[in-house]
Amino acid sequence: MSEAPTYSPGLAGVIAGESAISCIDVERNKLNMRGYDLVDLTEGGASFEEVAYLLLHDDLPNAGQLAAFCDALTVERHLPDPVVQMINAAPKSAHPMALLRTAVSSLGYCDIEAEDNSHEANVRKAVRLLAKVPLAIAAGHRNAQGLEPVEPRDDLGLAANLLYMLRGDDPQPYAVDAMNVSLILYSEHGYNASTFAARVAASTLADMHAAITVGVATLGGPLHGGANEAAMEMMLEIGTPDNARAWVMDALESKRKIMGFGHREYKSGDSRVPAMKQAGQLVLEATGEDRWRQIAEIAEETMLSEKGIFPNLDLPCAYTYYGLDIPIPLFTPIFVASRVSGWAAHVIEQQDNNRLIRPNHNYTGPVGRTFKPVDQR
Ligand code: CMC
Repeated sequence: MSEAPTYSPGLAGVIAGESAISCIDVERNKLNMRGYDLVDLTEGGASFEEVAYLLLHDDLPNAGQLAAFCDALTVERHLPDPVVQMINAAPKSAHPMALLRTAVSSLGYCDIEAEDNSHEANVRKAVRLLAKVPLAIAAGHRNAQGLEPVEPRDDLGLAANLLYMLRGDDPQPYAVDAMNVSLILYSEHGYNASTFAARVAASTLADMHAAITVGVATLGGPLHGGANEAAMEMMLEIGTPDNARAWVMDALESKRKIMGFGHREYKSGDSRVPAMKQAGQLVLEATGEDRWRQIAEIAEETMLSEKGIFPNLDLPCAYTYYGLDIPIPLFTPIFVASRVSGWAAHVIEQQDNNRLIRPNHNYTGPVGRTFKPVDQR
């Protein structure tokens, strides 16, 4: 007789599938991306485009492959008219994540290969999404601010062009470097909630844009990608380093979750945090503003001593983006601009070897009730 499957709330510890894309090496506290240590990629000076290529094509590109990949991304730097019209018609108060979710969905009905789920079409659609998501973020931001859109620049890489389109002026090299590192660190992270959600959608043979829309929707929650915005709001509420320890103690006392801390997989520190702190340091040195990092450090010391809980990537990323003068509601959309690469790799992997994802559940409701017509209830 087969044993009844065990139930794990939140699917914690459950092996829900197979993937050759990435895994968290808990023992060595590293993130393995197709065989590479993610930190080797940031420390070795990789561009986000190289990492996106690695995710979509199984290995790092050589110089010719990288040039062709970057060209393909540059050629796709334009938005279809219906998407531009949708963005311009949205209420100016719309949260940029809601707008981006709708933009990704509408890019689907404008894509000539929308319903083709072959491997080759999926890779092409992934490239188009990678190129267009930063444009949708920038277009939404400029429109909400009542500013003219900024045309993308062909001579800039993805990180630099994103900063350029948001602000309309040449980004400083330190800003481009910090943004590039954050995009690499955000790009992929195993069977996290949004990736799993995207894979579930893909497993029904819903198309790439549908699955990525699901990913965007799932990432937005404050327990997942939305934590980078929530962590910055928290640091602003704390206000000064002097206030940080007491604020955290008080929040813990009232059983509040401290945003930018904790992780389902990492229990001895998020492997991505040191690289993000280093990138944040570049920004602090250039701007001279150290208040938010100090608050984050005191919150970290307090969380470690009181709860043994480490910060996750969203904490140093939050003060780094803030130091780059990026409006807080754009933090999670920028996470999307990066994670599209990981989601797309998972959608491709799922559909290349598909089986519908359809788990069971324990029923906890009533049974045996007697139906009565509505006029007798
Ligand atoms: N603040 C206070 N307590 C916490 C926190 C936190 N940030 N994280 C975990 N805990 C406590 C939790 O209350 C629980 O305590 P107890 O056993 O006394 O009830 C214990 O630690 C275990 O936590 P859990 O909620 O069972 O852990 P989980 O694996 O279900 O949740 C998490 C992981 C990320 C949802 C959670 O740590 C959290 O809510 N963090 C804050 C939001 C956040 O920063 N999210 C970003 C996650 S990483 C990057 C990303 O995906 O975007």
